[in-house]
Amino acid sequence: MTVAQNLKPVRGIADLKQDFPVLAQQVNGRPVAYLDSAASAQKPQVVIDAMTTVMEQHYSNVHRGVYTFGSKTSIAYEDARSKVAAFLNAPSREDIIFTRNTTEAINLAAASWGGTFLNAGDEVILTELEHHANIVPWYFLKEKKGVVLKVVPILKNGALDMAAYDAALSKKTKLVSVTHMSNALGTVNPVAAMVKKAKAVGAVTLVDGSQAAVHLDVDVQAIGCDFYAFTGHKLYGPSGIGVLYGRRDVLDSMPPYQGGGEMIEQVSFDKVTYKDPPYRFEAGTPAIVEAIGLGAAIDYYMALDRKAAHAHEAKLLAEAEQRLSAIEGVKIWSKAPERAAILSFTIDKAHPHDVATIFDQMGICVRAGHHCAQPLMKALGTPATVRASFALYNTMDDVMRLDEGVQKVKMLFK
Ligand code: ALA
Repeated sequence: MTVAQNLKPVRGIADLKQDFPVLAQQVNGRPVAYLDSAASAQKPQVVIDAMTTVMEQHYSNVHRGVYTFGSKTSIAYEDARSKVAAFLNAPSREDIIFTRNTTEAINLAAASWGGTFLNAGDEVILTELEHHANIVPWYFLKEKKGVVLKVVPILKNGALDMAAYDAALSKKTKLVSVTHMSNALGTVNPVAAMVKKAKAVGAVTLVDGSQAAVHLDVDVQAIGCDFYAFTGHKLYGPSGIGVLYGRRDVLDSMPPYQGGGEMIEQVSFDKVTYKDPPYRFEAGTPAIVEAIGLGAAIDYYMALDRKAAHAHEAKLLAEAEQRLSAIEGVKIWSKAPERAAILSFTIDKAHPHDVATIFDQMGICVRAGHHCAQPLMKALGTPATVRASFALYNTMDDVMRLDEGVQKVKMLFK
């Protein structure tokens, strides 16, 4: 439980849908059943208002202008950093680097930390559950430097094979980079235990929290990781803003990721000196309005009874799974004992993309395909799945609509 959580009064989770204007829309003549929040979540009015307010009332660049607009906007931007720090229970707001998204956060860690400290033969442990964003940046280092990628397999139920993880760890392990929660299956990994084991062999750890930041309580100090990455647009905030949390001593040891304005102390053609983290890693004009929007999203989310919100999502997931499992020809791929908010499935004879298209005609939004997790699809033995993902604004009616959609597909593909 973070300090900020302790201080804020909690709001119940009834009727949250009305906070999200887009959810009042119709799609193809039906009220929208938005079940694709794992790809990108909808935004509450307070986030839209916070972003509009900056642009209408005091927009300027940050950390530059000495005029009133400049200081107001800089304060709002830096406030957002403090909100992120409280949200993650980071020891300091200076441990929070703003990036474009999770992908950029992991690329930053890989290019700056990995580019400096990983060498040929060093081992990086990944898992079969990873999104491409937590594979490709490390693959670059395999190509460039001869870093060795070791991959922890999944069990048949989509949980990580922890015995294989234990066996993969050795003195050669320099980094463990693992998702907290799979975007394709919803599997939740025991990241605190994994980090502890990684530390025992002296490895640095990165946790991809894209999905987990939305559905679990994240405490980077309790997890003990060196890096934690997440993105704003899945956490009811805007796109274009993400976060890399880094442990202070690790960030201090890292060179800049990009060069440009505001990340320097002094520049001449002979010598450049850099600011301390986090500013060392924020070259150029940042995503100002988006960072402030993320701050507003965190305010919104942290004011809620999050335990109730997570229980609500779990109830929707359980109901959806029960209903779909009862339909002949439906295969559920999300089976791990620890999982949240995501239901991946396929329907006999119907390609996932056809399923998603038929759903769209019924006003139901889901993602179909490989979910940017091709190695996971290969491990599962399917090229694609249909993924329904739940958020705090979904209702039992959305689950019923999903059931209705599957029944319709079954009828069409008899
Ligand atoms: N990573 C996002 C998803 O899982 C885009 O759909």
